[in-house]
Amino acid sequence: MSSLSNKRILLGISGGIAAYKSADLVRRLKDRGAEVRVVMTTGAREFVQPLTFQALSSNPVYSDLLDPAAEAAMGHIELAKWADLVLIAPASAQVMAKLACGMADDLLTTLCLASEAPLALAPAMNQAMWRHPATAANAQTLHNRGAHLWGPAAGSQACGDVGPGRMLEPADLALQAEAMFGNNDCLRGKSVVITAGPTREALDPVRYLSNHSSGKMGFALAEAAQRAGAQVTLIAGPVNLNSPAHVKRVDVVDAREMRDAAERAADLCDIFISAAAVADFRPAALAEQKIKKREGHDESSIALVKNPDIVAGIAARTKRRPFTVGFAAETQQVEQYAQSKLKRKKLDMIVANDVSRTESGFNSDHNTVTVIDRSGSNTLPPALKTDLAKQLIEIIANKAQQ
Ligand code: C5P
Repeated sequence: MSSLSNKRILLGISGGIAAYKSADLVRRLKDRGAEVRVVMTTGAREFVQPLTFQALSSNPVYSDLLDPAAEAAMGHIELAKWADLVLIAPASAQVMAKLACGMADDLLTTLCLASEAPLALAPAMNQAMWRHPATAANAQTLHNRGAHLWGPAAGSQACGDVGPGRMLEPADLALQAEAMFGNNDCLRGKSVVITAGPTREALDPVRYLSNHSSGKMGFALAEAAQRAGAQVTLIAGPVNLNSPAHVKRVDVVDAREMRDAAERAADLCDIFISAAAVADFRPAALAEQKIKKREGHDESSIALVKNPDIVAGIAARTKRRPFTVGFAAETQQVEQYAQSKLKRKKLDMIVANDVSRTESGFNSDHNTVTVIDRSGSNTLPPALKTDLAKQLIEIIANKAQQ
C-alpha cells in the first residue's frame, strides 16, 4: 500500500507552462490513494482550465479568496486545516517570492500561511529566473523555514533556454510525496554519521585537485536517516547543496579535515556511512604562492601522496566501532571491485554504483545501486537518489540491528 493512501493533498497550481503537467500529477497522486483538492492562482487559470482539475480530482477547484459560495462550502481556514501536505506544483518565481515574504494576497498564499501542514514546492521557471539571486534567496528562506524544495530539474525549457528550472516530472513528484510520508522509525534513538561530496586538495592558494561528486547521494541519505528518527551528523566536502532539516552539518574541505571530523563524530555513533568521494591523493607539497608557468618548460608534474582512507580507519577500530558502510563508484566490473573493497576495508556493507552510466551516478538525481554484504548482493531498481536513500536507510537499519 502506498504511503499516500488516504493522505489529503492540497495541490496549489501557480502560473506557468508546466501547469499542464499538474493534471497528470493529480492522477498519479490519486492512483496512490491520496485525496486531492486543487487551488489555482489567476495565472494558472490562464494556462489550464479549472474544469480539467475538477474532473481529475473529483473535487471543486478553489481560486478566489473572497468567493462566498466557496467559503460557504469549505472556508479557506478549513481547507488549510484539511491538508496533510500543501504541494505547489508548478511553483513560479512569483509565488516563491510571495511565500518568502509571508504575503497573503490570494487564496493560495493565504492557505500556505494558515496551514500547519508540511509545504512542498516544485519550482518551475526560466533558468535565468531560477538563477537570479532574488529567487535563490527566496528558495533559501523557504528551505530554512522547513519547506521542501522538490527540483527543479535541468534541461531544455519551453522558452528555448537550457538549464535548471524545469518542474520535476509528475511521477517523480509523486515519489517524493510518497517518500515524505513513507518514513518509518527504523533509526529511532540511533546516531548516524554520513560523509558526503568531494574533497579538495590544495596545490597552491588558487588551485586544487578534486572530482565531480555532487554530494547528492550523501545528502539524501542524511535526510532519510533523520526522517527515520536518527540523530544525524553530515560531514560535507565543498558542495552546492542546502542542509537537510534537523541535521548537524560539519563543512570540511580536504581529506584530512574530513578524517578528523569523521573520527570525532564516529566516537559517539552507531552507524557510519561513507558516501564521500574522498580524493585518493593530495599534492605532496602545498605551494605558498601561486605556481607560475616557467618559460621554456612545456611539461610539468605534481608529486602526490596518499590520503588517509577514512572509512577503512573507522572500520578498523577495535573500540567504539560503528556499523560501517562504504560506497564504491566504479566504471567497470562494478560488483567484483566492490566485493574486494568490502573485504579490504573490512566494511559491514558496501553500496556499489556504476558511474559510467550517464543517467545515474555522479551529479545525477538518479542512481542504480547494488548493496553487497557478506551474505550476498541485492541490486535495487533505478530510482531518484532521494527515493533510493530511503530504501538504503531501511536496509542499513535492518542489517545494523542483526
Ligand atoms: O577506494 P575507494 O575510494 O574506491 O573506496 C570508496 C569508499 O571508501 C567510499 O565509501 C569512500 O567514501 C571511502 N573512502 C574514504 N577515504 C578515502 C578514500 C575512500 O573514506 N581516502
